[in-house]
Amino acid sequence: MKIISVVGARPNFMKVAPFIHTIHTFNEQQVTSNPERVTHILVHTGQHYDDRMSKAFFEALNIPDADINLGIGSGSHAEQVGQSMIALEKVFETEKPDWVVVYGDVNATLAASVTAKKLHIRVCHVEAGLRSGDLKMPEEINRLVTDRLSDLLLTPDRLSIENLKLEGVSDSRIRFVGNIMIDTLEANREKAEQLSIQHIIKKNLIVLKPFSPINENQHFALMTLHRPSNVDHKDVLEPLVHFLSNEIAGKLNIIWAVHPRTEKQLKTFNLWDKVLSTPGIYLVHPLDYHSMLKLNMHARIMLTDSGGLQEECTVLGTPCLTMRWNTERPITLREHGGASVLVGNNIDRIRKEFNETLNKNRNPERPELWDGKTAERCLQAILGYKL
Ligand code: UD1
Repeated sequence: MKIISVVGARPNFMKVAPFIHTIHTFNEQQVTSNPERVTHILVHTGQHYDDRMSKAFFEALNIPDADINLGIGSGSHAEQVGQSMIALEKVFETEKPDWVVVYGDVNATLAASVTAKKLHIRVCHVEAGLRSGDLKMPEEINRLVTDRLSDLLLTPDRLSIENLKLEGVSDSRIRFVGNIMIDTLEANREKAEQLSIQHIIKKNLIVLKPFSPINENQHFALMTLHRPSNVDHKDVLEPLVHFLSNEIAGKLNIIWAVHPRTEKQLKTFNLWDKVLSTPGIYLVHPLDYHSMLKLNMHARIMLTDSGGLQEECTVLGTPCLTMRWNTERPITLREHGGASVLVGNNIDRIRKEFNETLNKNRNPERPELWDGKTAERCLQAILGYKL
């Protein structure tokens, strides 16, 4: 069997890693028992191209170099998807895979699923069925189209199965496999724990400045922000920066891992120098996988608009303020047993929840089948697929 996995952006890399490792193990077993092997081809669209956004993850997670890199890079959504489709069509026509496997909700996911289906190639979507209900999010459009077209829908939780059923998807296309990203978290926990927090900060600080000791005892908040709704508008980003500088940084150190989009916008809105010079705010480059995991394990609180971090916070028990008005991952919310609460970008709400959440204890939760073995179930679902 020949499988092509298509990835494009940072959150894909921790999902494809365990799938590739599982195929490798499967092939080793087949050598002795059964000659059926899986040929796997990894295609990277190149949407994320910085070393820190891409190469660092391939190296840290032992992902082999992409067999094919399409070099698409930055651009509008139509440019990214359109150029990826043109290039993927050639790859799929040449390689003639039995399956194209896509992950999550990035532009590569959409481009690959549409292109494969037009060539009558089977599509498997890992992380199917998530819905925010918010069509202003590009990722929601990517999820809807990908799930509509996919032959095999592998869901991370039971809420996602319900979403798919409400859209009329038949049971025969759905398999509940769990969360593949947690495979990566479990496989890398020990290695991350060995890192030093001081060293991570020193190594990644954007501008060197003295910092008061930040130790293992949860003396810092960890923050990431990249969604257009939070970073593309001055009237949203500016009050947030003022709130962090004036009300939080004096009480608790903030380690802010700055996404390239956010760095660009902070500079455009003349906020960059203010953030850089505020004592107690430490701007760091996008972090490698193990550094982020280590900081997440020891943060007092997480502030983020990332879906993946919401999930990791749930398993690690890190109290999390999710800076969005909705989430496609309700299983991470406190009302479903998770560690996260939605705060949007309203400062009063963030302040209130921040103060209430600060004193919450860590409460790790493990949703059903978030057990580190999801990749095996993904491969078995593909191998066992019957029309
Ligand atoms: C993408 C995904 C989003 C995911 C996020 C995680 C889609 C629709 N969005 O959003 O789901 O949560 O990645 O990071 O696919 N840039 C660089 N270097 C890079 C990559 C990007 O400088 O390696 C810059 C680009 O020039 C662009 C900005 O960052 O201006 C945003 O990148 P883009 O790939 O358009 O989307 P993300 O916001 O990263």
